[in-house]
Amino acid sequence: MEILNGKELSEKIKNDIKLEVEQLKAEHKIVPHLAAVLVGDNPASQSYVRNKVRSCEKVGFESTLIRKDESITEEELLDIIQDLNDNDGVDGFIVQLPLPAHIDEQKVTLAISPEKDVDGFHPINFGRMTQGLDCFLPATPYGILKMLEEYQIKTEGQNCVVVGRSNIVGTPMSILLSRKGYPGNATVTLTHSRTRDLSSILKTADIIIAAIGIPNFISSDMTKEGAVIVDVGINRVEDASRKHGYRLVGDVDFDSYMDKSGYITPVPGGVGPMTVTALLLNTLKSAKLKI
Ligand code: GUN
Repeated sequence: MEILNGKELSEKIKNDIKLEVEQLKAEHKIVPHLAAVLVGDNPASQSYVRNKVRSCEKVGFESTLIRKDESITEEELLDIIQDLNDNDGVDGFIVQLPLPAHIDEQKVTLAISPEKDVDGFHPINFGRMTQGLDCFLPATPYGILKMLEEYQIKTEGQNCVVVGRSNIVGTPMSILLSRKGYPGNATVTLTHSRTRDLSSILKTADIIIAAIGIPNFISSDMTKEGAVIVDVGINRVEDASRKHGYRLVGDVDFDSYMDKSGYITPVPGGVGPMTVTALLLNTLKSAKLKI
């Protein structure tokens, strides 16, 4: 298998962003500013948000982290979102999901101004994406497209099977890969927990996007030789031999692909870093609209 190295590619893109930020600062006195709202103390969310803030620093962005206790009310959170919508100094912001059960995620998503929705979750951005109009693409699918592009993976006419129909990965990914253009023009099958005979569908796939959140769910005996495997899963599994008592595994059994042909994204170091980089690209895009 050849590795689709998201870590390496994201470093390269971040270097390009850094140079562009220096130019923006020098020529227009613009410093892109990303804000992130983190509610509660979900360890995975804390780690993701930390990565996002650290990446902002790396490329010369300004960043603001707003941390709130999980006891925050929906109304208080909506007030914070309104302040961020109104704050001209903030180019884009995200509210890290999942949110505590007493807060309606849909309401929160709808409250974010589409112009600052650098996660691309608002229905305005989602709808524009669907129609191929200019928009903020959702960060994970955007990062995956960048990776397919960089590695010149053929998508036209290819059978692509997306596993998982979430609003933030599976569903948008299926739309983007079936759009006209590159990467796109694929024949896409969107599968999910109610899909019958997933194995035989997977066998037809030239490209697989695994986004179901089940550790090691897909293995090489289920897929075609030579397939391109994109693993979106970031699952924590117990491992007493590790410092923190767990390790990260994807939705794909990476080791089962060791002596196969094709391409695969590792976990960690595959899709994860590309997601963060795509968020930076969206924030940069938003900041540049000020020129
Ligand atoms: N939770 C898991 N992935 C994401 C993401 O891309 N954005 C936000 N806001 N929350 C997430």
